[in-house]
Amino acid sequence: MPRVIAISNRTAADPSARAGGLAVALWDALRASGGLWVGWTGNLVDEPPRSAQWSQDEGVEFLLTDLTRAEYDAYYIGYANRTIWPVFHYRIDLAHFDSAYFDAYAAVNQRIANMVASKAQPDDLVWVHDYHFLLMADCLRRAGVGGPIGFFLHIPFPAPEIFQALPQHDWIARALSAYDVIGLQSEHDRVNLTRYLTEVCGGVETADGRIEVFGNLIRVKAYPIGIDPAAFEEAANSPEATEAATRLGRFLGGRDLVLGVDRMDYTKGLPERFAAVGQFFDAHPEFAGKVSVTQIAPPSRSKVEEYQDLRQQLDELAGRINADYSDLDWIPLRYLARPYSRDELAGLYRIARVGLVTPLRDGMNLVAKEFVTAQRPEDPGVLILSEFAGAAEQLPSALLVNPHDTQQMAEAIHQALIMPLDERQKRWKAAREVIEATDLTWWREAFLDDLRAVAKTPAKAALRAVAAKAG
Ligand code: G6P
Repeated sequence: MPRVIAISNRTAADPSARAGGLAVALWDALRASGGLWVGWTGNLVDEPPRSAQWSQDEGVEFLLTDLTRAEYDAYYIGYANRTIWPVFHYRIDLAHFDSAYFDAYAAVNQRIANMVASKAQPDDLVWVHDYHFLLMADCLRRAGVGGPIGFFLHIPFPAPEIFQALPQHDWIARALSAYDVIGLQSEHDRVNLTRYLTEVCGGVETADGRIEVFGNLIRVKAYPIGIDPAAFEEAANSPEATEAATRLGRFLGGRDLVLGVDRMDYTKGLPERFAAVGQFFDAHPEFAGKVSVTQIAPPSRSKVEEYQDLRQQLDELAGRINADYSDLDWIPLRYLARPYSRDELAGLYRIARVGLVTPLRDGMNLVAKEFVTAQRPEDPGVLILSEFAGAAEQLPSALLVNPHDTQQMAEAIHQALIMPLDERQKRWKAAREVIEATDLTWWREAFLDDLRAVAKTPAKAALRAVAAKAG
């Protein structure tokens, strides 16, 4: 089995980061192949680091680098999170365009590519993750890496008209064409990238479903990321989950729980969600005192102003809604700006009557899949899901809403609360089957199979060898 080299900004070098989701999937693939994981240590330094830090755990090697404060500001806070993040989530209005950000981004991509090149063997499969490393394949080729390189984008790929707002869109597209396989979360994203590569860059779709563009051949495909349902069910039944559920249950005092869990991010549609909660109580006063909405929103990327602004906006909105609707013995909306463990969250999902997952844009949104998985089959809660989350393509049995339409969301909350048991069970079962069929292992293997197939295509391998020699 060829060795897998994973590259991602954050890694699971710290065992506590191996608890959930993607880290588990990659960890298994890396452990099985004696793999290597390359990325950032999470530490900041003043002077450029002289060398990368090597370590090994359970047969997996790590090669990590500190970032200088200047790199962190311009590559991570800057180009990754103030430029690409908003643009890819359709928020050009919040994007900052600064060519110095891009220079730092390109330099960090190249620095990490050089680290990988120092360790890479010709048979390795390189798997790059997320928007921090759009340029990585091109940087790796420049550093002499000739083997198959795949990329998975965990966030949405925007419509071509939006992507073109990036001053460096052409540069990025050329660099993307150096990947052999590009994985996206949804069909919607796949169509967007395909349209861009064909309509704007003059690429041509080949008979076998690949795209020939800038002299390269890429497989562009949707691989919707999954979860490990058995492990998550186990988490929902863990002592930590039960304790969290008991504590929240004490506060609820028999009221129905409507629950949202999101990183505090402007893509998650939290102000709209809060407004919908207010409108729900306006339209259905009979639910006053009978339903409690809890929103868990751990703060994130707080160095970026837009995140600071959001925090302030949510504080004000929650304060206003509670001032308007609360009573002596009831708080309608609880908003907790702190993180909880995966097990605790699983316990809270299990007792929720309604799960609110209403981002304005989201690559996949695994909270939707976790919420469904944690439900009790005999009395499942209802998922309200944004039609703009990647998960909506896979979970049409959820109550799908337009997250900009606060009235529609308010009505969906009502519909969920009064939904008869047989309908709840039918919707839940349909969602659960999809989650089971496209779990995390399925996702990983589907992607790696396509990457392995590249290694077996002699014409492509020969072309790469020539290109590598030519420098
Ligand atoms: C999203 C991105 C991930 C990122 C995570 C947390 O899910 O797709 O790549 O790691 O957010 O954001 P942070 O900036 O804290 O790494």
